[in-house]
Amino acid sequence: MNDRRAGSRRKGARGPRRLETDCRVNISIFGLGYVGAVSLACLARDGHQVIGVDIDAHKIAQINAGQTPVVEEGMIDLMKQVVADGRARASDDALGAVLATDLSFICVGTPSAANGSQDLSAVTASAAALGRALRGKPGSHVFVFRSTLVPGTVEEVLVPILERESGKQEGRDFFVAFQPEFLREGSSVRDYDHPPFTIVGCRHDGAEAAIRELFGHLPCAVHRTSLRTAEMLKVCCNNFHALKITFANETARLCDALGVNPFEVMDLVCGDTQLNISRAYLRPGFAFGGSCLPKDLRATTHLAKMRDVEMPMLAGVLSSNDRHLDLAVSRVLASGARRVGLIGLSFKAGTDDLRESPMVTLAERLLGKGIRLQIYDPEVFMSRLIGANRRFIETHLPHVGELLHDRIEDLIDQCDVLIVAMNNPTALAALQQRARPEQQVIDLVGLPQLQALPCSLEGLCW
Ligand SMILES: NC(=O)c1ccc[n+]([C@@H]2O[C@H](COP(=O)([O-])OP(=O)(O)OC[C@H]3O[C@@H](n4cnc5c(N)ncnc54)[C@H](O)[C@@H]3O)[C@@H](O)[C@H]2O)c1
Repeated sequence: MNDRRAGSRRKGARGPRRLETDCRVNISIFGLGYVGAVSLACLARDGHQVIGVDIDAHKIAQINAGQTPVVEEGMIDLMKQVVADGRARASDDALGAVLATDLSFICVGTPSAANGSQDLSAVTASAAALGRALRGKPGSHVFVFRSTLVPGTVEEVLVPILERESGKQEGRDFFVAFQPEFLREGSSVRDYDHPPFTIVGCRHDGAEAAIRELFGHLPCAVHRTSLRTAEMLKVCCNNFHALKITFANETARLCDALGVNPFEVMDLVCGDTQLNISRAYLRPGFAFGGSCLPKDLRATTHLAKMRDVEMPMLAGVLSSNDRHLDLAVSRVLASGARRVGLIGLSFKAGTDDLRESPMVTLAERLLGKGIRLQIYDPEVFMSRLIGANRRFIETHLPHVGELLHDRIEDLIDQCDVLIVAMNNPTALAALQQRARPEQQVIDLVGLPQLQALPCSLEGLCW
């Protein structure tokens, strides 16, 4: 991993720039669709010398005639200008384009194959052509993949092709980066100039420096990540967008069946920037639970069924949550330990509410597998539990009183595996002092402090 989160920076908002001649970069762009054509026009506008390469003769002819191959706001005038100024042209000559430039962007399509996998044929064909061209080129070159690629593609597929076809070595003879593109069709020139951030996935400083030179002036932070993180980030962003649209649409279908205005509801949902449109609930961790979310999801999906409204995404949420719980159970069982301590029982730190706590379900499942479980939760006292909370625990963990310990030290001294399910300073301090090298901690919350413990550490899925 060569992530350098601290290395990000933010620049003041500025518009497109024209470069001094000594900053001009010779650039080739492979694939002249929405991403490639807009990049070609904007980079040429910014003062660089750009050659576009495509296998589509019609697109090449259009660009060389100063016309845009894609319908996008601002592109007609921009393309006319940059071609007239002699800063952009197009060709089908991959070899000539690599020889004449210092850096290539690869923006070819990566559509779905019949089985749903990503069809990499265009990007692998481009990598092979680029590698062959590099074989005869003296000096270095930077290849920047901008097509959306599933994680691992650059390292496992594309770099090996480039190295095989060129006979050269990445990091020594040439550099490779993955820089995801975040523009949206319809507003792509504006989006190009105002990205949410510039992400540079790479293994070597040479690739990062080249991208900073081209995009460092944009009004956003630059983050360097590993290649896989950058690839994952792009698909993650698209999946999140799809999930948001589907959430709004499922909600609208139910609203419609109930005579509720979905626009009013979603507008107010978006008005909550503390819990809804915020970082809240977007940090990886353990399964959700508690006295509200599971029951309200069940009530919503039941209501939808009664009204003949299909909500497959929301109806699948509890099942996905259960899979997360299954993973925790399998991590504990895989450790082979019989004496296990669970730190945290209520559904979140700072409360004694045990109703639908995923930790109670975890405890139930581990006890069912014959694990000798001990539990520490500084907020939970059997003598104080009342009402629905008490009834819930009496149904699910009737002998919980025998499992609960007042002192975290008892768990640490008597257990082989400790499951950390809450962020509790007392527990963390005791672990730091008393944990033994042969002990294992299984982290369900993603606490950075656990990295310093004097024992082995396993995260739930990190
Ligand atoms: N369209 C978007 O808004 C958008 C936004 C971000 C990322 N992306 C991603 O960027 C990539 C490109 O998307 P697009 O919409 O611009 O694609 P597109 O289908 O519009 O264009 C792809 C171009 O690549 C050309 N091509 C195919 N094989 C080639 C080869 N061997 N050499 C040279 N050119 C070749 C095609 O002829 C075509 O002109 C995709 O991976 C896509 O997922 C797209």
